[in-house]
Amino acid sequence: MTFIRTIKGTQDILPGQSHRWQALETTIRNIMDRYGYKEIRTPVFERTELFARGIGEETDIVSKEMYSWTDQGGENLTLKPELTAPVVRSFIQHNLGGQSPINKLYYIDALFRRERPQKGRYRQFHQFGIEAFGSEHPEIDAEVIALAMALFSNIGLTGLTLKLNSIGSPECRRNYRNAIRDFLTPHFDELSETSRNRFEKNPLRILDTKIPHEIEILNDGPNVSDSWTEEDKTHFNEVCALLDAMGIQYELALRLVRGLDYYTRTTFEITSTALGAQDAICGGGRYDGLVETLGGKPTPGIGFAAGMERILLALGEESSSSSTNQVYIVGLGDAVRPTVLELAENLRRNNVATEFDTLRRSMKAQMREANKAGVKYAILIGDQELASGQAEVKDLSTGDQQKIALDALVAHINSLPF
Ligand code: HAM
Repeated sequence: MTFIRTIKGTQDILPGQSHRWQALETTIRNIMDRYGYKEIRTPVFERTELFARGIGEETDIVSKEMYSWTDQGGENLTLKPELTAPVVRSFIQHNLGGQSPINKLYYIDALFRRERPQKGRYRQFHQFGIEAFGSEHPEIDAEVIALAMALFSNIGLTGLTLKLNSIGSPECRRNYRNAIRDFLTPHFDELSETSRNRFEKNPLRILDTKIPHEIEILNDGPNVSDSWTEEDKTHFNEVCALLDAMGIQYELALRLVRGLDYYTRTTFEITSTALGAQDAICGGGRYDGLVETLGGKPTPGIGFAAGMERILLALGEESSSSSTNQVYIVGLGDAVRPTVLELAENLRRNNVATEFDTLRRSMKAQMREANKAGVKYAILIGDQELASGQAEVKDLSTGDQQKIALDALVAHINSLPF
């Protein structure tokens, strides 16, 4: 039979790796609690229209990267490629805004984009992120960014750069789009095919180019700050002042445009020097018009999402063992089997992580297994011990051995240092 492998761009998280994911998830949940964000979980698939309208028809995500299909009932559905649109949908559908003027939500989830796979870029990947609804003021922008930086520092990520921009109000965006078009018109013939296609539909995306001669042309081009309204400028300056007050360092990135169309005003990305070409750990910003675009009452919002595979790549392999077992019961002979299982059950009920052999192996093989499992203590029971109502407790780090009555074992193990 031929073997069926994973789909390109997807990966298994194997037992040797899952503890790293769990540790990251635990830190995320702790920090979210600290900042007052509550978890929201949304379905794996939604109507395609939600993403088309929310993210924008002309974005790379919607125009070429979505896993979409028509189901048996004729509905156009899509595996979620991002979470802001679904969270906004849920916010509107359940009238969360009517229940509280501020809603601070977080998620940890798997997403799907049909991108060209490479290191740090997958077709199924994981994000954690936050979305805060209800305030248009810079305080929440600063809190959202502070949370991201605190979380990354807590897990030990270094070499990070926070790139900060404001894409302005819709009016500013419109003006900036025209300014970019005007500036590029005399250079149109020098542009790549991709950029020429973007010229009409989505000229701001041309700023994302990686082609050296296009970057050179754009060096003399207009900055978004030239198109800011007075309110945009004040808002951005206040965000910067609050970040300064919190001691958070940032780089101004007046050419930073994000690949999703819903952004207004504050936009940011955090990059890591520990990553290669795909160096964005996290991206986010304000989307004050999105709730309305998706059919809700006008409500300001801001958030970010961070790629969890990229975070783990940037952290590098850690050496710590994934073992949580504390005790291994080494049983010898047919007669001791019920006692081994009874004892294991008793220890586990009393919060001791316990392992025993289910392959009926020799004592030597079981001791080897105990050492491999990284446990601190082995409990040895053979026919003799059973007859005397005692077991040997062996400290595997020192080799010390002690006889303990079977009915006192659980209490004894619980009194030992681990
Ligand atoms: P995004 O920039 O598309 O934003 O994705 C955020 C992060 O997800 C990226 O910085 C990256 O770390 C990770 N990521 C994206 N695509 C992939 C991929 N193919 N493989 C691995 N990691 C990837 C959003 O998704 C917005 N919804 C963020 C947001 C939330 N804005 C406001 N609220």
